[in-house]
Amino acid sequence: MCGIVAAVCGSRDVRADVLAGLKTLEYRGYDSAGMAVLHDGAIEIRRKMGKIANLEKELQENQLPSSTQAIAHTRWATHGPPADRNAHPHCDDRKDLVIVHNGIIENYLELRQELTDCGHAFSTDTDTEILANLIAMYMRQGQDLHGAVRAALEAASGSYGLVAMAAAEPGVLVVARMDSPLVIGVGEFGRFAASDMPALLHLTREFLILENGETAVLKSDSHQLFDKSGAPIERDLYHCNWSPEEAERGGYPHFMLKEIYEQPAVLARTAFDRCNDQKGDIEFELEFGLSQDDLRSIKRLRFMAMGTSQNSALIGQQMLAELARIPGETLNASEFLYSPELEEDNALTVVVSQSGETADTLRAMREVQRRGGKVLGICNVQGSTLAREADHLVLTHCGPEIGVASTKAFFGQVTALYLLAIHIGRANSTLDAAAGRKLIEDLRHLRVNLDASFRPEVSEQIAAAAKYLATVKSCLFLGRSLQHPVALEGALKLKEISYIHAEGYPAGEMKHGPIALIDENFPVVALATTGRTYQKMLSNIQEVRARSGKVVVIAASGDSVARDASDFMIEVPEVPELLAPLITIIPLQLLSYQVALLLERDIDQPRNLAKSVTVE
Ligand code: F6R
Repeated sequence: MCGIVAAVCGSRDVRADVLAGLKTLEYRGYDSAGMAVLHDGAIEIRRKMGKIANLEKELQENQLPSSTQAIAHTRWATHGPPADRNAHPHCDDRKDLVIVHNGIIENYLELRQELTDCGHAFSTDTDTEILANLIAMYMRQGQDLHGAVRAALEAASGSYGLVAMAAAEPGVLVVARMDSPLVIGVGEFGRFAASDMPALLHLTREFLILENGETAVLKSDSHQLFDKSGAPIERDLYHCNWSPEEAERGGYPHFMLKEIYEQPAVLARTAFDRCNDQKGDIEFELEFGLSQDDLRSIKRLRFMAMGTSQNSALIGQQMLAELARIPGETLNASEFLYSPELEEDNALTVVVSQSGETADTLRAMREVQRRGGKVLGICNVQGSTLAREADHLVLTHCGPEIGVASTKAFFGQVTALYLLAIHIGRANSTLDAAAGRKLIEDLRHLRVNLDASFRPEVSEQIAAAAKYLATVKSCLFLGRSLQHPVALEGALKLKEISYIHAEGYPAGEMKHGPIALIDENFPVVALATTGRTYQKMLSNIQEVRARSGKVVVIAASGDSVARDASDFMIEVPEVPELLAPLITIIPLQLLSYQVALLLERDIDQPRNLAKSVTVE
């Protein structure tokens, strides 16, 4: 969603630094962009609807003066349509101060009325402009910028990641956070702020992470954090081990493609350091913090997540049931709030999120904790809200995922859930050491098999199926058991980046309704890998073909029965059933990518979507 980058330095002109940071946030999804500087006591702002390239053009034609402090923003419209005037930064009506803001001020109408009554005038449709005027009002009443920001946020309700600068206080940035991520970068020549660490990796790898309700005053050579009550607080620096290169495309045409190709490396990073092959155990790092006794006491699991992460959670649920014999359910995190309060004893909630900042997911996590339950987070971003607030944590170590359509994060999550299932299974003795060793060995073999997914023959099969799918309006994805969530994920990928309508179903459900849709123009993508569901999947494929539906089949290499039953066959290596989701997801990701490429879609930034959905 919206992105923030800001800098304050001693002598360096920061315009280019801030713009470079803004560009790294392009992937988050936005509809306009802007930047403001403070120069010779005056605030100057440039804002443009559309891509950052439009802002850059504006900055060339209508340059901002050089400045040692700047704030910039990419906006994802909430209040008011995408338009130059609604783009951030926003200033008060006398241009005394300027702010960028992520989040939503819920009582903005009430505040607007109060400010109008006091004579303030507004020129945008945004809630942010109201906040800017409110802060300005407190400054005029004698507060400094920090005091005025705190007073305004006291009066406002809602969520914010905020950076403010005032003409009267050169060399100062004030930042604040409530339910919308905000990090402070501590560099050699200045202090920085951003909604996301990758936006500052070209400037520093040392960060301070702001907690809800906290504010900070940044100067070129110092920073001071304050808690909710305004009392100064100290915090250790957090060193981010992501490199700036990891957040770059590295020669690939799209981040999504780069991230699909990174999956073999993700397997190694997520899994192998944690595997004790000799003992058949998984050794999680310290952050995990669940003792063997804790693990043995778990009688029920609840998985919660949104989108792709929910699909991986559904796979995790099945893995945990199979290997650790613990029953579980998977909930869409946004629905959890409305569920009845049940006993949390002997239950563990596994919350899965790539970003660790998804608003619905965080809300659900906090609700579990409020009800007395414990949360294990599975998360990719160290230092994110989920990583900090979960009672226990497993990091997936996928590296930054930039493409809006999640790929390697799904892969890392499923891998981590497989490890978790082995770990709990070993602890509660549903798996003995030999079984643990075998499951780890299977994972090591998978590493070799993954390379086969990128062979030229397979790429040709995917290209042929993609050429066909690019011509259709709708499509069904079918799978059973562990391949059912893969079907859901395949459909999600296709609709997200190609805008072709696609739905995933358990194949057994097809005859209960969706089959009515099948005709020569309504194809099916069927996951028919070897295992307990294979024969039934073949029957489903025949049912589709009997109704003139075309079928793209994902099946094991050399499976001539599946080949004969398919219009398009995409081969995958044969792997143990439990690991098959990690092998079948790759052609589905590549299939969507190829379809979107043929349809000339904006693959890394599909319309209307945002990478990290930080509002409910
Ligand atoms: C789909 C996608 C989204 C996210 C969802 C949850 O490609 O990326 O569906 O999976 O918004 O995000 P995280 O995992 O960051 O909580």
